[in-house]
Amino acid sequence: MGLLLLLTSLLLSRYFHPGIVVDAQQSFTIRNTTLSIEPSPDVTRGTNVTLRCKAMVSSSGEEALRREYTIYKGSNKVYTKNTSTSEDLLYLLPDARVSSTGKYKCKINIMGKEMTSEPKKLTVEGLSKPVLRFNKEVVNEEEEVIATCTAPGETGSIFFRFYQDSKEIREGEGSSNQFEAKFTFSKVGIQKIHCAYAVIIMPDSFKSKESNHVDVSVKELFTTPVLEIFPQSNIYEGDHLNILCTTRNRLDSSEEVHLYLSHGTKLLSSGETKVNHSVVALAKDPGEFECRQEIKKVFKVITKTISVTELFSAPTLTISPAEIFQRENMKLTCKSGSYASERLNREELTYTLEPPNSPLSPIGPGVFSGRALLNDFNYTCVARAKGIVKHSDTLTVRPKVSVSIPKISVYGKAILGQPIHIHCHSETGSLPINYTLIKGYEVLNITTVKDPNQKALFKVTIVKPEELNKFMCEAENNHKKGELSGRLNAAVVEPLSDLTLTIIPNPSKVSEGEDLYLICGTKGTPPVTFKLYRVGTKAPLFTNTSQQNNTNFRVPNLSKEHSGKYYCEAINPANNLVVSEKIAIEVHLALWKKAVIGGVCLLVVSVLAVVCVLYFKSKRGKREGAAELSV
Ligand SMILES: *[C@@H]1O[C@H](CO)[C@@H](O)[C@H](O)[C@H]1NC(C)=O
Ligand SMILES: *[C@@H]1O[C@H](CO)[C@@H](O)[C@H](O)[C@H]1NC(C)=O
Ligand SMILES: *[C@@H]1O[C@H](CO)[C@@H](O)[C@H](O)[C@H]1NC(C)=O
Ligand SMILES: *[C@@H]1O[C@H](CO)[C@@H](O)[C@H](O)[C@H]1NC(C)=O
Ligand SMILES: *[C@@H]1O[C@H](CO)[C@@H](O)[C@H](O)[C@H]1NC(C)=O
Ligand SMILES: *[C@@H]1O[C@H](CO)[C@@H](O)[C@H](O)[C@H]1NC(C)=O
Ligand SMILES: *[C@@H]1O[C@H](CO)[C@@H](O)[C@H](O)[C@H]1NC(C)=O
Ligand SMILES: *[C@@H]1O[C@H](CO)[C@@H](O)[C@H](O)[C@H]1NC(C)=O
Ligand SMILES: *[C@@H]1O[C@H](CO)[C@@H](O)[C@H](O)[C@H]1NC(C)=O
Ligand SMILES: *[C@@H]1O[C@H](CO)[C@@H](O)[C@H](O)[C@H]1NC(C)=O
Repeated sequence: MGLLLLLTSLLLSRYFHPGIVVDAQQSFTIRNTTLSIEPSPDVTRGTNVTLRCKAMVSSSGEEALRREYTIYKGSNKVYTKNTSTSEDLLYLLPDARVSSTGKYKCKINIMGKEMTSEPKKLTVEGLSKPVLRFNKEVVNEEEEVIATCTAPGETGSIFFRFYQDSKEIREGEGSSNQFEAKFTFSKVGIQKIHCAYAVIIMPDSFKSKESNHVDVSVKELFTTPVLEIFPQSNIYEGDHLNILCTTRNRLDSSEEVHLYLSHGTKLLSSGETKVNHSVVALAKDPGEFECRQEIKKVFKVITKTISVTELFSAPTLTISPAEIFQRENMKLTCKSGSYASERLNREELTYTLEPPNSPLSPIGPGVFSGRALLNDFNYTCVARAKGIVKHSDTLTVRPKVSVSIPKISVYGKAILGQPIHIHCHSETGSLPINYTLIKGYEVLNITTVKDPNQKALFKVTIVKPEELNKFMCEAENNHKKGELSGRLNAAVVEPLSDLTLTIIPNPSKVSEGEDLYLICGTKGTPPVTFKLYRVGTKAPLFTNTSQQNNTNFRVPNLSKEHSGKYYCEAINPANNLVVSEKIAIEVHLALWKKAVIGGVCLLVVSVLAVVCVLYFKSKRGKREGAAELSV
């Protein structure tokens, strides 16, 4: 019995020993995991919040299984705990803040088996009121002050903003629940400042209320300086201006004071408490003067604008005549359009021409005369009075070149009856040039050449070669006189006509062995290229280029094969091809052959005659013999 007890207790103790429990492969299943928020998912700031994670596990054994709980806020692990009890896991969020707002879930892991609860959203409402403090509440302009905005008791990612009245003046992310900013104020007076913050919980942000408003009193360090300009009105060019700038209040501090007087971008003068400057008034400058007082970073500016009346206007330079030729007389006139007669006599206004070494000499106030140069020349004129100097725009005088005697020529070939281009050209002369074509005493046409690449070409047609010599042309580029060319002298090409083929001797009475002459003749201008063809043969039998309007070809020792039809072709520089009539040639037998044939015939006839005679004679003899016999 005792042995049995021992055995049982041994068995039991082995079975229930924790080390053996794991080995025993206790089977289990996680049925459900839930997360609940206590006291409620929507709480106000300061509530003690508890997250409860409940797991329902069914197992075959009695012993609780080791479980690992993990709490997530969003996707971040916020808490992990291993436990061997089956009690719920409690995660405490004491004194909750808005920053605790988020979606929470709970995960349970038992021996690798996991289950995650549905997420639950915790919303904590209510932010503390921000507190704004300044290290000084009375400052000088441009003096630095430090403002601190605090979000009491808040945690998490906090973004601060500062406002002056309702305008945002600064923002930044606080490293803890407070943010420090440095300010300087340039506006004098009471500046109302407040701040606010926002707790960022992605993707949302929760805005706090406005902080307390702090009145920062900004005191003026010094007042704007005084700018005075004398004289105060009726300022004319050349008047002396006295400009005075002074500080209004002396400072007891030892700070450095600077005064700057400027005109446009030019600094006229500078000093400490007083600046006195004298300038000559000029109409072309902008009339604004500025005085600037600086103490440390603080500056005060005053500007004054004056209007300066022109004593005289800038002169204009004109030329007459408008078109000027080399070495011709010209006149330049320099004149100011207007002048202030209440301040200036016309005689006080003097004009000079620049450059001073120009070949023109003054012939009256502002009038200069002389001969035009050969080249381009730039002139400027200067008007002066009471120390004021004004320049005109530059006038470039471009003297023109008169046309030279033109040359008249034929452009291309002059062919009778076809259009002829007559070219007229002057070697020198400024464009545009008018070219006039004249025939005899008659003006045929006018062409204006405006471009150096342009040619003056006239199209004419003549019917007789002598007509060409009547053409002349005239070139003109000023209205005074034109230049006349010589007469047109050029070779005229007469086109070919009336091509005839002449054959010697008579082509119907030629015999073998004789020589034949084929003569091609035409009307027109040489050189003429003649070609002799035989009908049925493509290539010419003869080709000859002649400096005359005819040529001849010789065919020696004619034979029967030379019979056929022949014709000529001719062409000259007028490029018109002419063709002759076709002429038939028949080559007869040679005379001696005829004679031989006649002789042979005669011989045959005479032989035949002899034979016949002999035959008849022998026949009659036989008959006589027979008669004799019969007798
Ligand atoms: C877990 O329990 C909750 C509430 O008791 C229930 O709504 C949910 O459907 C359960 N989930 C599973 C997977 O059984
Ligand atoms: C929250 O718990 C603390 C102790 O942990 C207690 O002092 C405090 O009064 C509790 N606050 C509320 C609102 O219950
Ligand atoms: C819980 O136990 C696991 C192993 O079982 C271990 O990796 C983990 O670090 C433990 N966690 C805590 C919070 O002790
Ligand atoms: C400024 O200087 C001019 C001479 O440069 C003098 O005549 C004038 O009195 C001065 N004005 C003042 C206010 O000092
Ligand atoms: C005239 O002035 C123009 C510029 O204004 C310059 O290009 C040109 O070369 C000058 N001509 C002469 C002849 O000085
Ligand atoms: C003058 O020439 C132009 C073009 O070259 C031509 O159109 C016009 O007919 C010509 N006038 C006379 C009268 O030849
Ligand atoms: C050239 O001819 C045009 C018209 O044919 C005329 O207006 C111009 O005045 C002429 N120019 C000259 C310099 O003769
Ligand atoms: C050949 O040309 C001359 C002038 O060069 C002319 O007198 C003669 O009639 C021309 N001959 C023929 C056959 O046209
Ligand atoms: C071409 O013809 C000319 C004139 O008839 C003659 O003087 C010259 O010899 C000929 N040339 C040839 C190659 O036949
Ligand atoms: C003329 O031609 C014939 C054959 O066509 C030839 O026998 C004879 O020698 C030639 N006579 C001359 C002078 O060339």
